[in-house]
Amino acid sequence: MEQKNLYTKLIAQDLHKTFIQGDKKLLVLNGISFEFEQNKSYAIVGVSGSGKSTLMHILGSLDKPDIGEVLFSNKNLFKLKEFEKEKFLNTNMGFVFQFHYLIKELSVIENIILPGIIKGENKKSCLEKAEALLQEVDLKDKMHDYPTTLSGGQQQRVSILRAIFNKPSFLLADEPTGNLDENNAQSVINLILKYKKEFNMGIIICSHDPEIYNKMETVLKLHEGKLG
Ligand SMILES: Nc1ncnc2c1ncn2[C@@H]1O[C@H](COP(=O)(O)OP(=O)(O)OP(=O)(O)O)[C@@H](O)[C@H]1O
Ligand SMILES: [Mg+2]
Repeated sequence: MEQKNLYTKLIAQDLHKTFIQGDKKLLVLNGISFEFEQNKSYAIVGVSGSGKSTLMHILGSLDKPDIGEVLFSNKNLFKLKEFEKEKFLNTNMGFVFQFHYLIKELSVIENIILPGIIKGENKKSCLEKAEALLQEVDLKDKMHDYPTTLSGGQQQRVSILRAIFNKPSFLLADEPTGNLDENNAQSVINLILKYKKEFNMGIIICSHDPEIYNKMETVLKLHEGKLG
């Protein structure tokens, strides 16, 4: 069995972020420091506009803070070269967003294996692995279909399979159930929690829904640029 980063932490250090809106400066993150541990689950809650997505993007190094660092297992994500960062993210971090961002020109199974192919894994073994994952979520009969022909809940399950394909150390999910009805939201969250357990994956999830955020071990509130 592959032993992967069992004790990894994702560490936010003194994150500050200001946006310029017209002639106004909007301070969104005002000194956020927190250590997220792998194998734990965290919810980030806060009113709309409080900066949850901004924080998630920075934690996933999809955006840079004005001040502060994000460390992953002592690796400073903002000091990596672009290609190193992409390789790192593909292997160690999974992302799920409110809108699934599946590639509509690729079939369901092609979307799922993409992270494995980018990593350089053999296509045949990727396809076998993806088929097994699809079977688990009752979507095997859809594997050659295109994402636009799937329901919202099915699309989101596919995007989770893609996000966890390389068994990342952390899964960052920004309103992953925001577009789903209650039943689909529950099945999406249960799927995320199942993979957390299976891969010792850290989960950081933003959600407005108490049914979702109360399932996480730690609930953190983002308010006036601080996390508490
Ligand atoms: N690229 C940008 N340029 C200017 N302002 C931005 C930018 N991105 C976000 N903001 C502003 O920063 C604030 C925080 O936005 P963010 O999207 O992080 O909030 P949020 O907590 O995720 O909200 P929601 O719950 O609605 O998703 C908002 O006031 C938003 O208008
Ligand atoms: Mg948001």
